[in-house]
Amino acid sequence: MSKITPQSANVERPGRVARQLGPPGTRTPAANTALGIRPVRRGDLNAVIEMDAMVTGIEKRDYWNSLYRRYADAVATGQHFLVATISEKVVGFVIGEVRDWEFGSAPCGWVFAIDVRPDARLSGTATELLQAICQCFRKAGVSKVRTLLSRENTLILSFFRSQGMMIGPFIPLEMDLET
Ligand SMILES: CC(C)(COP(=O)(O)OP(=O)(O)OC[C@H]1O[C@@H](n2cnc3c(N)ncnc32)[C@H](O)[C@@H]1OP(=O)(O)O)[C@@H](O)C(=O)NCCC(=O)NCCS
Repeated sequence: MSKITPQSANVERPGRVARQLGPPGTRTPAANTALGIRPVRRGDLNAVIEMDAMVTGIEKRDYWNSLYRRYADAVATGQHFLVATISEKVVGFVIGEVRDWEFGSAPCGWVFAIDVRPDARLSGTATELLQAICQCFRKAGVSKVRTLLSRENTLILSFFRSQGMMIGPFIPLEMDLET
């Protein structure tokens, strides 16, 4: 899982119309017609943990169990953890939530993790996952989505840019704490 720069989605730019993030299930992916998107289930966790370990090289079972407890069945409080499946096999996931008035901004959706198995990439899976979570955000009444990513991660930057996301109005700051 990588970190994500504040950006906003679905912005129209001169000469290019941003992809429309429509409701899940209303768009047929060009190459991935067998793809399904649904809320995560307990039985999906091993596949999610394996996928994250494939991407990051670190298995974080405790972290994922804790995330599952906080995000599964938490739609009412604005948390979303969705998986993409092909023939029942989990091939990708997205996690995000609606956050109210953080950093002084009006409530908006934050996407903080999106991953697709290497053998299932470049078929529109992450696009469908992002569309699905954006629809969850819309249902919660927000009209902006943000994310934060590592500046070295050009792959995830290319993906979010392809979806119409642009540099947002925030600057991340940090410092070391003396111990
Ligand atoms: C980034 C990632 C989620 C994209 O998943 P995906 O299912 O392959 O993405 P899509 O097929 O929906 O691609 C949509 C667009 O993203 C861009 N894109 C995706 N992969 C790309 C690549 N390898 N190089 C350049 N652009 C790419 C393209 O513009 C693509 O549109 P196109 O196929 O019409 O050219 C996936 O590569 C991944 O899991 N990467 C590693 C994990 C990671 O770093 N996650 C971040 C955690 S927050």
